[in-house]
Parts: sequence; C-alpha cells; structure tokens
Amino acid sequence: MNIPFVDLQTQYLSLRDEVIAKVDDIFRRGAFILGDEVGVFERDFAKFSGVKNCVGVATGCDALLWALKALDIGPGDEVIAPANTFIATVLAITAAGATPVLVDCCEDDFNIDPAAVERAVTKKTRAIIPVHLYGQPARMDEIIAIARRHGLKIVEDAAQAHGATYRGRPCGSFGDANGFSFYPGKNLGAYGDGGAVTTDSPEIAERVRQFRNYGQSKKYHHEVAGWNSRLDTVQAAILSAKLQRLPAWNEARRRHADRYREKLSGLPVVTPRERAECRHIYHLFVIRTQRRDELLAFLDGRGISCGIHYPIPIHLQRAYANLNLARGAFPVTEKLAGEILSLPMFPELSDAQIDHVCGSIAEFFGD
Ligand SMILES: Cc1ncc(COP(=O)(O)O)c(C=O)c1O
Repeated sequence: MNIPFVDLQTQYLSLRDEVIAKVDDIFRRGAFILGDEVGVFERDFAKFSGVKNCVGVATGCDALLWALKALDIGPGDEVIAPANTFIATVLAITAAGATPVLVDCCEDDFNIDPAAVERAVTKKTRAIIPVHLYGQPARMDEIIAIARRHGLKIVEDAAQAHGATYRGRPCGSFGDANGFSFYPGKNLGAYGDGGAVTTDSPEIAERVRQFRNYGQSKKYHHEVAGWNSRLDTVQAAILSAKLQRLPAWNEARRRHADRYREKLSGLPVVTPRERAECRHIYHLFVIRTQRRDELLAFLDGRGISCGIHYPIPIHLQRAYANLNLARGAFPVTEKLAGEILSLPMFPELSDAQIDHVCGSIAEFFGD
C-alpha cells in the first residue's frame, strides 16, 4: 500500500465540477485581476476567522510582510519570532527591513516559549510573531500579556492554522494584523499560491490593500511604494469553494489524529499533545523518536511518505548566519529538529491507511 504524505488529487475529484464551472465563468467574463471573487472570498474568510477585514494577497510570505509594513515596522525595529518555524516567518521580518530576534520553543507543543519572549524584549522591540505551528495555537494569553506590558504589536503567523481556535476564538483574530497562507498543501489551499491578511482595523486593511496593488487605492494615485501582490481571481474562487468544506475537512483531520494516537499508544514514540485551551487542526501530525532517520527510511521503503518540518532551525541556516547564533543557542528547537517526523495527514486519509502506517511503525520497533 503506497501512502502519500498529502493527497491533493483525491480532494480535487470531490470539487472538480464546481471548480471547473467557476473557472470557466471567470474565463468567459475575463475578470482576471481583482475580480468579484476576491471580494467575496475576503468577506467570507474574514467571517470564518472572526475579524472585520481580510485582504487577499499573493502568498503567505507576502501576507506577513504587508502585515508588518502596515504596522510601520521596518529598519531599526526588532521583531521576536520562534526559531522553530518555517523560514517564511523570518523572511518577512527581514524583507520589511526589521531585525529578527529569535527565541526557543516549548517542548510540549513546539510553539514559541513566552518566557523566552519576555527575556528577549528590548527598547527596540516592536512586535511578536507567534506561529501556530502544525495547526496548534500558540500560548496567546501569555503572549498578549507580554505585548500589553511592553506596548508591542502582535502579528500571528496563522499559515498552518485555518480554523484552529484558542479558548474558542479563531487563530488570525488575536493579532493587530495576521498572515495566512493558501499554499496548495495547507488545510485551506489554493491551486497555486495565495495568502491573506486578517485584521479588525479598517486602516490596517486599507494599507495592505494599497501595498498589494502598487501602493494605490485609486488607479494611478500611488500613496505608498507598494508592490504587485494580489490574490488571483481564479484562486479566490477556488478558495471560496474549499472554504465551505474546510470545517468538515478539519474535523476529519482531528479524527485521524485521534486514530493515530490510539494506534500508536504503547509504542516508543511521542504523539502530539493537544493543549486544553486549543483546538488543533492538524495541518501536520508530528511524532517524535530518537530513531527518526531510521524510521523515516523504513517507512519510505514501505511506500509511506513522511516529512520533517523542519530539519534545520532558522538560526542554523546559512541565510541567517549574520544573526551569529551558533548551535546550542536554542536547545529545544535543535533537539526537536533531530527527532520530529510528520506522518501522512490529509482529510481523505482512510482508516486502513492510518492502520497501515501505525502497523509499519510497530513493526519497525519490533512490536
Ligand atoms: C508557518 C508558515 N509561515 C509562512 C508560510 C509562507 O506561506 P507561503 O508559502 O504561502 O508564502 C508558510 C507556508 O509555506 C508557513 O508554513
């Protein structure tokens, strides 16, 4: 039995007629750039995310960049972010011209450690970027308290957390401006690139609208030096079709996570722990074992595709050698990078596939 890491083709077949009809309609009307579908999706995704405004942009990377720039964060400003994240979180900080200040994560949920955030605050700190890694919300109570105490902005990186909630409130509704990614493999993924900024502030939303469209609100009247970073009309239409199905897809992922946990119990692997105040939406189902590389190769030999998210922490990437953070700077992040393994996870995963993955892991450990 071959089991892919993510299966986008099976999902496509369940939407095909609707997607083709929507795309055909856009092509017939020729409404390619900022067509009505973009506004419709923005309205619906704002509602879904519990905020007043959503602005569709080209990528999740751009969403974080425009969120920072809309908050006037740039050269001379420090932004605190976790070392344990996908590099885009930090790329957005440097693209804005600000200085990333990395901190370690908590071992129980892989998310940014609030105590480390508190220690990292300086006079130059302007913002914190909590990342809701793998779909589990970061410790927002503590982060909001730190931000209030020091007068800092919050930019949530919700790229992996569409529909995740913290104390019943959606991720992407806590920060001053927040970024989502619609990269195809995300829980809400486009058929190409896409991203969005969510915010309650109409002023911030308007600034992001300017940044994404050459810095203009009115054609040929350029208020800021923006960029071309628009959410594509075709992608917006596809995202609207998928948004309706997202709650059911997230539920399916949660059921799969329960089954994985049940079938893996008793084996020498650590399964993800869902914190009581969080509703995890399992963008990724990440286990831990000290024999990670051997297990990865064993499963690969059985036709089971896994991943590592992420094998090299940000501070050990050549791109960020200038931060002068040597190995040992973030012990938890570094330890996790050597032990984590992402198992196949997507809504259409079958019980038989999960049982096969778990049976193969049991076999590897000689159980
Ligand atoms: C945590 C995180 N932040 C940011 C991004 C960037 O999103 P995109 O690939 O849409 O630029 C991603 C996904 O790729 C991500 O996983």
